Amino acid sequence: MDNWLNALAKAELHLHLEGALEPELLFQLAERNRISLPWADIDSLRQAYACHNLQEFLDLYYQGANVLREEQDFYDLTWAYLCKCQAQGVVHCEPFFDPQTHTERGIPLQRVIAGISQALADGRRQLGISSGLILSFLRHLSEEQAFATLAEAMPWRDSFIGVGLDSSELGHPPSKFQRVFAKARSEGLHAVAHAGEEGPPAYIWEALDLLKVERIDHGVRAMEDPRLVQRLVDEQIPLTVCPLSNVKLRVFDDMRQHTILSMLECGLKVTVNSDDPAYFGGYLNENFQALHDSLGMSQAQARQLAQNSLDARFVRN
Ligand code: ADE
Ligand code: ZN
Repeated sequence: MDNWLNALAKAELHLHLEGALEPELLFQLAERNRISLPWADIDSLRQAYACHNLQEFLDLYYQGANVLREEQDFYDLTWAYLCKCQAQGVVHCEPFFDPQTHTERGIPLQRVIAGISQALADGRRQLGISSGLILSFLRHLSEEQAFATLAEAMPWRDSFIGVGLDSSELGHPPSKFQRVFAKARSEGLHAVAHAGEEGPPAYIWEALDLLKVERIDHGVRAMEDPRLVQRLVDEQIPLTVCPLSNVKLRVFDDMRQHTILSMLECGLKVTVNSDDPAYFGGYLNENFQALHDSLGMSQAQARQLAQNSLDARFVRN
């Protein structure tokens, strides 16, 4: 399975760069930047990574991101992720970054974008991995702050291809960001949003109708609403599903209960993704492997999931 999976060409469309910060690199960066950490060593940090819901995870994720200070740090983080992609047959990626996680700590946006973009450019040249960067707004902050972030990023418009929406879902519906998404789309940016991870199917309807997104990130709770499933099938809206993340954050209690293969069999355009691999126990192929081990995913289903990811990318070479 391992070799076969590695050889299967895939795209990853739902990956938070800050969530690819492995404990080893986190400790290295803390030392380089002379930051003291609340964890004694890498093992205690790994133990802390055992979180039980989205908010618990996010608190840890924002704390971890605090070690990212210099342009080189953002480069190293992105490069480490791209090396994983190469090892696993990921030929294309469209990663997210959260500008506000950094600008709120006083890190200039230019530094963040420069480090990430340089690594993505080197990934194209040296590893043959094509990519497009997505700027994600934090939904627990205001729409006004999202507008300010978009304006601040516009001098680097050529460095990203779209906008997304992440962080705490419940209580922060897509409707809160309708105007800033309209502005982003008017700038020619693609639009995606996390919806239906912890939030109800109504949030997926809003993401489609109000934000006019082209892909839904997660979207697993769509299965509670047959009319919504029909629409997603009819319009072939890609859903970027993250199996290991969903089990870790208790969207499903156990991988054997995950509905991704039923979604695929319904005709939904689902893809497999790792979300925050450093925190959830694996990169793309570990997610595929888990579907094989717990749900009996066939090779034909794996091929279809991989093909969906290539079909659903925004950037084509
Ligand atoms: N930020 C990073 N990972 C996330 C997730 N799974 N859901 C919402 N926000 C996130
Ligand atoms: Zn996510």
